[in-house]
Amino acid sequence: MSVTIRPIRVSHPTFAGEAPGIDLRQSLSPSDVAAIEAGMDAYAVLVFHDQDITDEQQIAFSRNFGELEGYKTAASVPRAGGPRLGPGMADLSNLNKDGTVMSAEDRAWFFKLGDRLWHSDSSFRPAPAKYSLLSARAISSWGGNTEFADMRAAYDALDDRTKAEVEHLVCEHSLIYSREAIGFTDLTPEERDAFKPVRQPLVRRHPVTGRKSLFLASHAGAIVGWRMPEARIFLRDLIEHATQREFVYSHAWTLHDLVMWDNRQTMHRVRRFDRNEARDVRRTTLAGHALIAEQG
Ligand SMILES: [Fe+2]
Repeated sequence: MSVTIRPIRVSHPTFAGEAPGIDLRQSLSPSDVAAIEAGMDAYAVLVFHDQDITDEQQIAFSRNFGELEGYKTAASVPRAGGPRLGPGMADLSNLNKDGTVMSAEDRAWFFKLGDRLWHSDSSFRPAPAKYSLLSARAISSWGGNTEFADMRAAYDALDDRTKAEVEHLVCEHSLIYSREAIGFTDLTPEERDAFKPVRQPLVRRHPVTGRKSLFLASHAGAIVGWRMPEARIFLRDLIEHATQREFVYSHAWTLHDLVMWDNRQTMHRVRRFDRNEARDVRRTTLAGHALIAEQG
């Protein structure tokens, strides 16, 4: 198999690529893996169409690029009937264990709605995620695009004064902040304890390319040393800046797409879809490295 990667949009030659002709069920040679990883460094988002894969195949493909995240605490509230998928798979579907669609009254559904806010996966963990890989096993007939924002381009486009201002700022990220933003505040004491804020730098440098990017997410709800209203309004301004249309690729899903993104240089969000239809999307997530060793 030879790997060819090209930009999805001629108008945006450096953000969001696609890799045609690859079969992710097959094992990859070291040079194929290196080519895909180089594609990720360059494009930050890669789309692989027509990948009718199993969970095991998705896990095997993901492991070419690092270790799966191994956090014990869940990043969501439990769904009716218990987990639907096995270890290593994050269930981003709107389905209960028995395959029926979640009730609109379900806490698990309220919690999932937070995915509609711009974020970077696991930014609320001490070691935020490297790559996420999302496989579409069933899609809704309307809506549900996943949008990606290029946080390198967003950083580059800041004016010099703002670049200097953000350079050494540290934010606090928590699921409590992103859920609070949509009015979901009835968290249990155990959830509040599990979702204690972690610190992340506002500017990060890509370990391979050396490019700087803004490390933002709706999970970011405070800036260390700042008064809360000032922090919130600044973070809101920065997210608005970073998600201008020119920095965004909107992925319209087709069945069996697999989309892989680098959380270190992007934010993403899902758009509205018909909640009465099954949307079965399954994620594997690769562990990243802690950016701030000492938390608290
Ligand atoms: Fe996400």
